[in-house]
Amino acid sequence: MKAGQAGLDHARKLDQEHGLLHLRDNFHIPTKAELSRKTAKAPDRQQNGNGNDEPSIYLCGNSLGLQPHLTKKYFQQYLDTWATKGVYGHFTDMEDTDLVPWLHVDDDCKPEMAKIVGALPDEVAIMQTLTANLHLMMASFYRPTKERFKIIIERKAFPSDHYAVESHIAHHNLDPATSMILIAPPKSGSLLLTTAHILSTIDKHATDTALLLLPGIQFYTGQYFDMKRITAHAQSKGIIVGWDLAHAVGNVPMQLHDWNVDFAAWCTYKYLNCGPGSIGGCFVHERHGEVTENPPSQEGEEPTFEYRPRLSGWWGSSKTSRFAMTNRFHPIPGAGGFQLSNTSVADSTAVKASLDVFKQTSIEALREKSLKLTKYLEESLDALAQEMRDSVGRECFSQITPREAEQRGAQISVLLDEGLLDHVMEALEKEGVVLDERKPDVIRVAPAPLYNTFEDVFRFIEAFRVALRGAEGDGKKRGENLGSVMVDGGREAKGWSEIK
Ligand SMILES: Cc1ncc(COP(=O)(O)O)c(C=O)c1O
Repeated sequence: MKAGQAGLDHARKLDQEHGLLHLRDNFHIPTKAELSRKTAKAPDRQQNGNGNDEPSIYLCGNSLGLQPHLTKKYFQQYLDTWATKGVYGHFTDMEDTDLVPWLHVDDDCKPEMAKIVGALPDEVAIMQTLTANLHLMMASFYRPTKERFKIIIERKAFPSDHYAVESHIAHHNLDPATSMILIAPPKSGSLLLTTAHILSTIDKHATDTALLLLPGIQFYTGQYFDMKRITAHAQSKGIIVGWDLAHAVGNVPMQLHDWNVDFAAWCTYKYLNCGPGSIGGCFVHERHGEVTENPPSQEGEEPTFEYRPRLSGWWGSSKTSRFAMTNRFHPIPGAGGFQLSNTSVADSTAVKASLDVFKQTSIEALREKSLKLTKYLEESLDALAQEMRDSVGRECFSQITPREAEQRGAQISVLLDEGLLDHVMEALEKEGVVLDERKPDVIRVAPAPLYNTFEDVFRFIEAFRVALRGAEGDGKKRGENLGSVMVDGGREAKGWSEIK
């Protein structure tokens, strides 16, 4: 990787070559000054000519995606409707807004959301939140019997998934110690789970497992699992397969319908940019969402409905019956029939804004750019690791995310040498780099192709170099023998902000 001005010029050239640059204009990129200020209100940026209004290097879309400009516009429309129409907002078609009447906000989001996850529109529902949706899905899909009662998950599953699974097992009066199978990496040292290892764990517990629940992309390592193969293999053994897509949705293309996935759930605040804690999404394969209507056997009786058992609420009942206030649940066919409460219009307004940005491209085009961005990040990290090795004489960090492009999404997780994390995070923050840490030693760096650039990656690397050298310098002060760390080829380390 080229450093200094030549490197910056090269990164900018890559931005021009690899397209989609215009999509960044859809987003509010916090400036460095905004990040350090104690006030939330964004000032008029044009007047802020003090040189401190450079955009931050925001590489944290794996945690919280940035705000599209459309969000504010659509929120204002929603607030205006609420203010001027009150309850009529549920039904009234407005001429001067982009939004549909509130009664249909969930349906309005389905087609675009379905494209992002590779589903039929009716297989998708905008509802609840991720953990709540996992619970709802398991209530329907985890139906343990004497013969099949185990749930397989990873040993290092996101804690919420672990708790959810454990509580379902306990809810059925089973013992998690014997009913919960935790897949751990086979070799000590590696945090990755190979497909072969996952399949062999499935085989080992094939006869008594009811459910397999895995993440599409692992939150810590960034590993993207072979969802198609794992799903097919587990299902061939009679196991139901569900996926937690928190880190996969909006990040990698998927084909949930064609892969025959039983169910999936996701949040919308990461790569989907819908805001913190925003409404989640659910996928239920069409074969599980069928509703059969049996005509009444006698005149005067009502028809009956057959459908997959679930925990039900009025918003899952057909729109025609919803306001009839009867006690007869008539589920909407598809994932919509799993909804409980009336949809948060504020949340789904943010979803609409996000999807209207996604509509300007395709998940396939985003992936194409993402592969290049992340490869560039990887190569730059490798070059920096070598540079640090040369100057310090040891490894300062290593990559734990798989090196194979098809086994990862946008994110690369970097394992820092022991004791560096706090200093590195502090130094990065000072330079206006936003990314997240996972204690004790990992930083996660995720260039999101919708708004991140090669230049962002370049600037991150420059700041990371300074941070590492500072951290190593601190170590030196502590009396450790770290060799010459502040000088590279006789040149003092420069902060990235010195390079424009
Ligand atoms: C993989 C994974 N699963 C579950 C969750 C929990 O999500 P929520 O708080 O929306 O239920 C998260 C949150 O970041 C996550 O990353």
